[in-house]
Amino acid sequence: VQMSPSIIAIDGYAGSGKSSTARAVAERLGFAHLDSGSLYRAFTLAALDGGVPLDGEVIAALGRSLPIRLALTVDGFRPETAGVDVSRAVRGDRVTAHVSAVSALPAVRDAVNLILRRAAELHPRGVVVDGRDIGTVVFPDALVKVFLIASPDERARRRLRQDGKQVDPDRVQSQAMNLEARDAADSSRPVAPLVAATDAVEIDTTTLRFEEQVERVVALARKAFA
Ligand code: C5P
Repeated sequence: VQMSPSIIAIDGYAGSGKSSTARAVAERLGFAHLDSGSLYRAFTLAALDGGVPLDGEVIAALGRSLPIRLALTVDGFRPETAGVDVSRAVRGDRVTAHVSAVSALPAVRDAVNLILRRAAELHPRGVVVDGRDIGTVVFPDALVKVFLIASPDERARRRLRQDGKQVDPDRVQSQAMNLEARDAADSSRPVAPLVAATDAVEIDTTTLRFEEQVERVVALARKAFA
């Protein structure tokens, strides 16, 4: 019998609620949450701070030397750079503006995927992993695959709230444009583009309450892992 951890893959567009859903589902099931976007952001922050060129091999090597890793704490896994918790620092606008370019580099994607697969092995019970290519590339054998969608305006409102910013029509409009530009970049890149796995269950969260979307994923998991 092969003992592999139970894996729940949650993919979707920026601001669709992947990370908050993944965190809540993990808590309900006693699994660990792995936020792959936080790792792409950590590599981007390191590249910006290091002033290195936009070169995948260079940025991947920088990540190994610092190192960038997912550290297991009492609150779960969090991104660390050279031993420092960067989970807040990686949310900055400068990182967000550059992360699609950095995440398009194959060597960076290999580095992130290695970190994710190792972390999953560390947690024998199971992991909930959220991102853009989790069900298609990183864990194609995951028993539960979810693809979250929501309208651009709703995603913009959620992202503004998440970042502690004011939610007014102007901000919603410019935030929605930012999200859609990032989605377009992520969906059109040649390597591991943002696309739903053919066997993913699509959930439109535009009008769902948060508890409802969490419950839907938990129900899929209970069925799959029964
Ligand atoms: O989810 P989050 O907004 O933090 O992701 C930041 C960026 O990281 C995305 O816009 C995308 O460019 C990249 N990403 C990716 N593959 C993943 C997760 C994130 O390319 N699995």
